[in-house]
Amino acid sequence: MQDNKITKTLVSEEEIRATVQRLGAEVTAHYQRLEKELMVIGLLRGSFIFMADLVRQIKVPLVVDFMTLSSYGDGTVSSGDIKVVMDLDSSIEDRDVLLVEDIVDTGRTFSKVIRMLQNRNPRSLSTCTFLNKPLARQVDIRIDFCGVNIPNEFAVGYGLDYAQGYRNLPYVGVLQPD
Ligand code: IMP
Ligand code: MG
Repeated sequence: MQDNKITKTLVSEEEIRATVQRLGAEVTAHYQRLEKELMVIGLLRGSFIFMADLVRQIKVPLVVDFMTLSSYGDGTVSSGDIKVVMDLDSSIEDRDVLLVEDIVDTGRTFSKVIRMLQNRNPRSLSTCTFLNKPLARQVDIRIDFCGVNIPNEFAVGYGLDYAQGYRNLPYVGVLQPD
């Protein structure tokens, strides 16, 4: 069973619930005065579970869209190279955008996506991540809404994968190194 390779729990189901609730409240407070609906953009595939939970805790009108990037391949080391596999469906020009990521590690992915989206002239752009690895950071980026800081270990579960597996774990665990 895939659970056998999980050595410890990093973020329990209870902590996940509390974190998502806090983030939803923070985002809601920040976006009290919107001209149009908030556009919540999730980076696939890792953010799909977090997105689903988060939007239900955001109490302002919103729409969702998704973007798929190629990132790690099947390994656990960042290549630094990203490419847009599936772009957004809608234009973000003049819109208030909240970009949602599962985890910020080196920061390379987030920084590239932020730059790409800024070039499309949104009205505003803020960033939210469920997990953050501050010790792994190589590129300085601003995270406006940050979930849980974790140590520099490879995390799986709650949407995060190793070689596409483990996404369905209801908590975040650490994978035993090979
Ligand atoms: P970065 O560009 O190094 O910040 O990496 C960001 C992307 O790498 C995330 O969107 C994840 O897909 C992946 N990633 C980074 N660290 C982990 C991890 O611990 N577990 C699973 N995926 C990770
Ligand atoms: Mg990802």
